[in-house]
Parts: sequence; structure tokens; C-alpha cells
Amino acid sequence: MSRVNRRWLLAQRPVGMVEAGDFRFDEEPCPEPAEGEVLVRVCWLAFDPAMRGWMEDRESYMPPVGIGEVMRGGGVAEVVASRHPDYAEGELVQGLFGWQEYALMRGPGLQGLSRVPRDMPPTLVLSVLGITGLTAWFGLYDIGQPEAGETVVVSGAAGATGSVAAQLARLSGCRVIGIAGGPRKCAWLRDEAGLDDVVDYKAENVGARLRALCPQGIDVYFDNVGGEILDAALARLALRARVVMCGGISGYNEKEPPAGPRNLMNIVIQRARMQGFIVLDYAPRFPEALGELAGHVREGRIAYLEDIQQGIENAPRTFLRLFDGSNFGKQLLELAPPGS
Ligand SMILES: NC(=O)c1ccc[n+]([C@@H]2O[C@H](COP(=O)([O-])OP(=O)(O)OC[C@H]3O[C@@H](n4cnc5c(N)ncnc54)[C@H](OP(=O)(O)O)[C@@H]3O)[C@@H](O)[C@H]2O)c1
Repeated sequence: MSRVNRRWLLAQRPVGMVEAGDFRFDEEPCPEPAEGEVLVRVCWLAFDPAMRGWMEDRESYMPPVGIGEVMRGGGVAEVVASRHPDYAEGELVQGLFGWQEYALMRGPGLQGLSRVPRDMPPTLVLSVLGITGLTAWFGLYDIGQPEAGETVVVSGAAGATGSVAAQLARLSGCRVIGIAGGPRKCAWLRDEAGLDDVVDYKAENVGARLRALCPQGIDVYFDNVGGEILDAALARLALRARVVMCGGISGYNEKEPPAGPRNLMNIVIQRARMQGFIVLDYAPRFPEALGELAGHVREGRIAYLEDIQQGIENAPRTFLRLFDGSNFGKQLLELAPPGS
């Protein structure tokens, strides 16, 4: 019986908040691998806020997704047919497969295809042992450079990146305050992730809470959200503070770029440093970070959550969960578990 590949194409560039209607559902006959190619069936897709940027027609660290192209996205997949000597049927692999059930991997390096280690749950390579864990590790250590006893504040703290950054800071002997939306996420940060304090930005005045919680100021601020929360943190910087510019999700769906932070001059007054980064630049050092992160996971030193939705038909809806905070942990979508 011939297989069908169900997939989502980018239908139009979003204006303001991304909508399900910006994507178009499509079916095609499943491709067959030619010599040197590998056909995979996608098991799980991972969703990242950065994908909103890939939908825009502008130059960035990755080219935009073209209108009519399969929406770009990473995942874990099972090899179902291989005409490549390095891959056999049944192997689990990771790569940029796109929002579709099957993907044909071809060309030099098979588009970055790599094997999934067998000694951990496979979805971990999409979260704490993948891009979000690596982002937390390099952002915190390379740019934040926390020292024991310092005060570290993390926004988006209950998310995939923020929760790892916050816990790494705690493991470094810092006092850690997480900012997140809603009582459920704040309780998890306190009770499971072991943070010292939390701020519920949906219910509390962030500036007032940071003033009360950080009387000596913030030494490292790891920012995932931008906007008013960034501004409130800038107002509380300690002398020689480091501001890690990881992301700014509060602005990703704005039609116009947000107004600049009002408290930027505090960088000057406090002789602080503010630096952005893209985790892919650290690729040669990924093994070093992954080794340490895997040790933390194995020994139970890092708590993590995965939010797993079901079915390729729900890909756009799953993506939108990132922008209203519905996701509780790394946002994943299960299409077909391995061996099913
Ligand atoms: N620089 C890099 O190389 C790099 C790499 C990966 C990710 N990132 C960035 O890291 C950040 C986190 O990404 P992630 O994949 O770990 O996602 P995530 O934090 O697991 O999910 C996104 C979270 O953002 C929060 N959020 C959404 N809208 C918000 C708003 N208007 N104001 C404040 N918070 C809001 C929500 O949490 P609440 O419920 O708490 O609101 C939501 O759960 C993003 O900014 C992303 O772009 C950067």
C-alpha cells in the first residue's frame, strides 16, 4: 500500500500574532529514497519560539521559510528506508525534518542528520540534552559567568531554556529568582526546580518584587522575554552585572518592534555588560556541555518537563501554545512513537 505524507506548508507571512491560518495542511505520496538517501518517519517534533522569526521574510541566522514550503522544525525520527551505508532501518535519528510525517534526507551530510543516543529517553535530545539545554548552558556560563553567592534572575524561568538556566545557576551556588506566568509554573519552580524565589509576572508587579528580593541588585540577568520584564530587571542591576540576551518572546508577534528599554542607562551607571548570542555558534563545544548536562539529568540534579501534544494535524495549534504560555515544559508533538 502506498504511504501518504501529511504535512504543513507555510501559507502566508504572519502579520502580528501568528495564526493557524498562516499554515496550510497538505498531503503528498510518500517519497522513496534514491541511492544515498534516507527516508525517516517523524516520531516527535520540537517547537521553538524562534520559528516565528523563520516565518518572516527577513535575513537572520537562518534563511526564511518560503511560502509553500514545508514549515521548518526539528525532531526525532525513525529510519524507515535507507539507501545510505551509514544508516539502517529502525535507527533513531534527529534533524530538521519539518512539520510532516515523513522526510527524505539527502545531499551532503544528509542535512545534518545525526543518531540519537540509546542510553536516555529519545525526546531529551529535543530539550534538556538538545538546543534549549545547550542555550541555557552557554548563555549562563559563557556570557553570564555566575559566581557562587551571586544573585541570578531568569525570565521565562519555567520554560525549556529558562528552567535549565535557573537550575544550572543554582548548581553553581547562586541565589536564583525565577520569573514566570501563573501559580502552577511558579510552584514547580520553587518545589521541583529548587529556586530560592519566584515572581509571577501575571499577578505581581515585577519591578517592586525585584526591588524587594534583590536588595543588593541582580548580578546575572538571563533574559528570555524582553519588553517590560527586561526593563524592570535593568533597573535592578548590581555593579558589574551581566545581562544575557537569550530571547525576547514578548515581542515576537508584535507588528512593530517594541520601544527601547527605559532603564538602559543603568548599564552605564553599573558598568554592566549586555550580550546576545546564538547557540549554534557554539556547535564545536556542544559535546562539552552535553556531557555535563547528561550527568546532571542522570543524577537527578536537574528537573525538567515535557509538554507532549498529539498528531500532525495539531502542529499549528501546538506551536501557538508557546505564545500564550500554555506549554508547561518543552513543547513537543508526538506523531508516531518509534516502532509503532
Ligand atoms: N539565543 C539562542 O540561541 C536561543 C536558542 C533557543 C531559544 N532561545 C530563546 O529562549 C527563549 C525561550 O525559548 P524556549 O524554547 O525555552 O520556550 P519556552 O520558554 O519553553 O516557552 C515559551 C515561554 O515564553 C513565555 N512567554 C510567552 N509570551 C510571553 C510574554 N509576552 N511575556 C513573558 N513571557 C512570555 C511563556 O511562559 P510563561 O507562562 O511564564 O509566560 C512560554 O511558556 C525564547 O525567547 C527563545 O527565542 C534563544
